[in-house]
Amino acid sequence: MRGKLIVGNWKMNGSLAANAALLGELTAGWTATPGRELAVCVPYPYLMQAQAELSSTPIAWGAQDVSEHAAGAYTGEVAAAMLVEFGCRYAIVGHSERRQFYGDTDAVVAAKAKAALAAGLTPIACVGETLAERDDGATEAVVLRQLEAVLVALADKATQLVVAYEPVWAIGTGRTATPAQAQAVHATLRARLAKAGAGAVPLLYGGSVKADNAASLFAQTDIDGGLIGGASLKAGEFLAIARA
Ligand code: PGA
Repeated sequence: MRGKLIVGNWKMNGSLAANAALLGELTAGWTATPGRELAVCVPYPYLMQAQAELSSTPIAWGAQDVSEHAAGAYTGEVAAAMLVEFGCRYAIVGHSERRQFYGDTDAVVAAKAKAALAAGLTPIACVGETLAERDDGATEAVVLRQLEAVLVALADKATQLVVAYEPVWAIGTGRTATPAQAQAVHATLRARLAKAGAGAVPLLYGGSVKADNAASLFAQTDIDGGLIGGASLKAGEFLAIARA
């Protein structure tokens, strides 16, 4: 059986003081658990703090994005090799907020995943449909198109990927996909990944995961954990999700 991976996505939240409190509570509350991995993806300026606080703990950390370029004249961007210097294990790519507000296309997301992997990071590639796309019956087509770009870019390295299904209509809205709705999409993604020889890739669900709905989501055959936004900012809630 595949283990569970629970990743916090802090988004653009935090401060040195608030992070110290949150990371302190997480490290105090989490012990190494076979088959369970906990990670937090923090804003870039706090990577050094995450590294200092988490290095000697079983909690991993990562970034919320990464440049598709290795180095050079790309003002404002952060290279994968820089993230590695700060001990990152993960880089989220293709979060719907990046796609929506910063114009990250399928091609850019795929290039970011490739750059992350080349530097030794594990990309967490996000896919997900909008409410309009779901209402149009286009959910499968959308997530498969988004996944396809990444699979083509990674080729035989796709086995090293993590994929997160995050229906856009469920992010930060309090509206969660039902376990059955999520499982249906995960099964579709799993089948495509298996065809690429990457059927064992962890498939996370994200979108208003809370302590009280995590267990039923994680009980689904093809849900291998969660990508947690709002609830990852509260230590008690995040730990309860991690244990669900
Ligand atoms: P949410 O966000 O848990 O606050 O809905 C999830 C995400 O965007 O990764």
